[in-house]
Amino acid sequence: MPVATQATVKSLTPEEVAGIGGRVVLSNAYHLYLRPGVQTVSSLGGLHGFMRWPGPILTDSGGFQAFSMGSLRKVTDAGIRFRSHLDGSEHHFTPELATMNQVGLGADIIMCFDQCIAYGASERQVRQAMERTHRWAAQCHRVHRDSGAWPGRALFGIVQGGTFSHLRDESTQAITAIPFDGYAVGGLAVGEDKEQLYGFTGQVAAQLPQDKPRYLMGVGSPEDLVEGVARGIDMFDCALPTRVARNGAMFTPDGRVDVTKRRFAEQHGPVDEECDCYACANYSAAYVHHLFRAKEILGLRLASTHNLRFVLRLMERIREAILEERFTSFSREFLDRYRPTDE
Ligand code: GUN
Ligand code: ZN
Repeated sequence: MPVATQATVKSLTPEEVAGIGGRVVLSNAYHLYLRPGVQTVSSLGGLHGFMRWPGPILTDSGGFQAFSMGSLRKVTDAGIRFRSHLDGSEHHFTPELATMNQVGLGADIIMCFDQCIAYGASERQVRQAMERTHRWAAQCHRVHRDSGAWPGRALFGIVQGGTFSHLRDESTQAITAIPFDGYAVGGLAVGEDKEQLYGFTGQVAAQLPQDKPRYLMGVGSPEDLVEGVARGIDMFDCALPTRVARNGAMFTPDGRVDVTKRRFAEQHGPVDEECDCYACANYSAAYVHHLFRAKEILGLRLASTHNLRFVLRLMERIREAILEERFTSFSREFLDRYRPTDE
């Protein structure tokens, strides 16, 4: 899912995102609740009308962002109290409010309100946040059903449990005991190493229902997508492809490259010879390099187009490989060739 935090995939129109192959986009209830406000979005036709994205929209509930972006956060069993990162105003999210905000925004997939704990927290702290997440999940489920939003609008549960294997098992059991429409693995990609990221992803995904979508939150890079699918994940979201694009980092089958480096100044061919995106079909790497050097807006639009196309086409190729029962060899070939950093 391309990330449209503030009801826009940064620098791209909905037509461009759809043309690149985007099917579902992710927006953040935290940002949209603070600005322009749920009521404003709702009165403008919900997120679909407001941003003119006709396809499915998933919203994150706001707890994770209140925690990572708000200040003076205070978490209690009732919810999260925080100050806006915009104007310092004080707000309080509860499971009920977070769910109804997402219903009001018109999301097609609503995420449970959860507490994602910082990497390195003690077992006692992780357990407390996890048990709170389980209670909040039950509340979100009840509020969602009572709102009449179901079955048109789906609700996904989120597994927490930090980097404690037994807590991950416990959380998976507690969350899957509630009949959500899909299940997410949360609390990862928050500072743990790749071995832990992949290990806990595999452990949790193996215990999630096979007939419901399995979603790894906040992941990932091209290599993480392949590793995640190998462990049973169906859905991903990540701001990385568009965020790094704005700094000139572009994905290629050989790995991530920095197009601002001098070696691209005279490259006549596209950044990625194998890519079918608008940028690679029409422009030389030298031109994209020049746009970044000159700080021209088109540079980041072209790089964003390319990186999104790269990850969406990677997922298309993964789906094909799975259907043709050759995913194992596909993933080996991809990972053998792809270098995560440009050094
Ligand atoms: N985005 C990335 N990780 C998380 C998580 O653990 N919870 C939520 N709600 N969003 C996330
Ligand atoms: Zn391209």
